[in-house]
Amino acid sequence: MKKCIAVLAGDGIGPEIMKEGLKVLDTIAKSFGHTFEYKEALVGGCAYDKHGHPLPDETKAICNNADAIYFGAVGGPKWENLPAELTPERGALLPLRAIYGLFANLRPAVIFGPLADAASLKSERLKGGLDILIVRELTGGVYFGKNKVKSIALNEGSVQGEYAVDYMIYSVPEIQRITKVACEASMKRSKKLTSIDKANVLESSKLWRKVVVDYVQKNYPQIQLNHMYVDNAAMQLATNPKQFDVIVTENMFGDILSDLASAITGSIGMLPSASLSETGFGLFEPIHGSAPDIAGQGKANPLAQILSGGMMLKYSFGLGKESNAIEQAIMAVLEDGYRTGDIASAATPKDKILSTSGMGSKVAEYLTKT
Ligand code: IPM
Ligand code: MG
Repeated sequence: MKKCIAVLAGDGIGPEIMKEGLKVLDTIAKSFGHTFEYKEALVGGCAYDKHGHPLPDETKAICNNADAIYFGAVGGPKWENLPAELTPERGALLPLRAIYGLFANLRPAVIFGPLADAASLKSERLKGGLDILIVRELTGGVYFGKNKVKSIALNEGSVQGEYAVDYMIYSVPEIQRITKVACEASMKRSKKLTSIDKANVLESSKLWRKVVVDYVQKNYPQIQLNHMYVDNAAMQLATNPKQFDVIVTENMFGDILSDLASAITGSIGMLPSASLSETGFGLFEPIHGSAPDIAGQGKANPLAQILSGGMMLKYSFGLGKESNAIEQAIMAVLEDGYRTGDIASAATPKDKILSTSGMGSKVAEYLTKT
């Protein structure tokens, strides 16, 4: 199979983890007889520095002509105070999600057996491991509601002086299509789906709940559906995560809960994601950010980036076998005790603590062994 991949490494640790992601994809290409053509492009702060915009036209052109987008991470303190539309997040990442209609964000939170000791919960709460799929709506809600900042001095009322507004907007079709994605995933798993909202307070959540109930009853009556308020869901995730299988939720709740879920699995450096459009076009990125504080030190964990490459193979190219091979290689590497610093414990021997590139090479080496 021949595929063209837009490679957008971005800022901070992005380039160093991307290098490892590509190393593993190259190994897959060689072992399974595929050709992956990489088209690298600047995105985020580095693109702003070079071209004056975090999502330059030539980057968009490369993405338009690619079969999938492989993304690292963007942002950093250097660009935080730019006008909103020029920041790496609001000028590049969110527009990419919007331009390509990447409404369905799949974030699997899995504990790899050997890492149970790195997880933040007591091991009895994680007996038998953990395998949750968070389905986050990615192109709606408060991230994309028209937001305005107004400088108005009000004479009356509780709002005084300058104020800011963000609109959390959801329409019925937006809720239906993400519910469908979650139901399809759920049908392949335990048929247990939890929808998370804040229907006791928010109108958008009341609509969310009603649409989810109607959709599931009508189309997937076999699915066992339950609902949870987001505050309770955070508490439940932190205390009894094994009650969840597939979670479906709106954009901001999914953002917050997926960071929490990653902490439960041991490290934010372990969680990949796939953002998919209705036609199956996708962007694949780790859920963590650009971690400027550790950039360039060879400390970053490249596994979320590598696993995101695996999701690209599976979801965009239909290469399930290859994607499984990556997961199995990672499992074997971890079983043999290799760790990056973030997932090491006091008991990890020094020679098993690998650098970013050491971990990438180890996964590639194990891929060729199996
Ligand atoms: C994520 C990130 C982004 C988000 C940021 C970088 C805009 O936190 O993908 O979870 O909030 O969606
Ligand atoms: Mg986030």
